[in-house]
Amino acid sequence: MKTALLKASSRTIAQAAAILRDGDLVAFPTETVYGLGADAFNPQAVAKIFKAKGRPSDNPLIVHIASKKDLMLVVRSVPPFARLLIDRFWPGPLTLVLPKTGLVPKMATGGLDTVAVRMPDHPAALALIRAAKTPIAAPSANRSGRPSPTSARHVQLDLEGRIDAILDGGPSRGGVESTVLDVTGKIPIILRPGQITPEQVEQVVGPVIVHSDHAHNPRLVRSPGMKYRHYAPRAKLILVEGNPKRVQGHIDRYRHQKKKVGVLAFHHRYRADNAHYYGRNLRAIARDLFAILREFDGKKMDVIFCETLPKKGLGLAIMDRLGRAAGRRG
Ligand code: TXA
Ligand code: MG
Repeated sequence: MKTALLKASSRTIAQAAAILRDGDLVAFPTETVYGLGADAFNPQAVAKIFKAKGRPSDNPLIVHIASKKDLMLVVRSVPPFARLLIDRFWPGPLTLVLPKTGLVPKMATGGLDTVAVRMPDHPAALALIRAAKTPIAAPSANRSGRPSPTSARHVQLDLEGRIDAILDGGPSRGGVESTVLDVTGKIPIILRPGQITPEQVEQVVGPVIVHSDHAHNPRLVRSPGMKYRHYAPRAKLILVEGNPKRVQGHIDRYRHQKKKVGVLAFHHRYRADNAHYYGRNLRAIARDLFAILREFDGKKMDVIFCETLPKKGLGLAIMDRLGRAAGRRG
């Protein structure tokens, strides 16, 4: 299959919408990362997503809508506190887990009776969903296990020849994905930390449970995707905190053994083969994180040292992704 690369315009959006209506796959930009879209109400189309990504079939997808009123096509009921979150954060990077309607095939929800849904804050994504005249199921448009794509080029590298088209809307401004929030119970549970911070959610609805804080509690439902290895660069990634002299010593030892060392640092500057220093600009780190992980691959690093950040605000989502990139699964 040839993958068409379409620069986003009203003409190419109409073209991409026609591909989706035909039951085929289109990757498209959102404000977080690129998504790999299919008609959410067409189980054969949705099945193609799992095949193209190499994604385990029990890992459910996010359904994207272009207007708040389309929510009731996808979910059966919305508790009042979830309405408050929608009013505050949609369109935007907050995904809500709610009971699904019969229109949503189990293929899209990994067999669950709940569905994850969000309204993206990106003009091309919204125009595409409107033109397709159906909600669009879309996971991140990477091969399963790879860092999420934040440009059309990243999608090409992972999925060229496996999908029908890529709608190129330029680099993503968010980088880290949406926050996945289970609102089926009395207290909302953050299943995956993301662009919207726990603090922001709490300002609207009061206390939330952050799932990773309660990983030992088997009663809490899990986001099925979180058990798989994710975001992994090819090199070994090591998280480091503390004494910069000792860290530089480790880096030097590896380089002495002719290993290429990459660094992603937030507190100190290091000498290495490919070093990125960010200070504590969390927005910029989130935006560039996946591109940097891919750059380490492109430049054939053998080892990556990465400093840690406090797990507060956006730092929680960034550390979640880095922990997974380092091989943590739970
Ligand atoms: O920013 C984003 O969320 C991007 C853009 C494209 O919208 N999408 C994205 O999708 O990151 P994906 O498939 O890579 O991640 C979806 C996450 C997974 O961890 C999955 O397990 C969880 O959402 N999820 C989906 N449906 C769920 C459900 N019914 N219950 C619990 N977790 C669910
Ligand atoms: Mg993903």
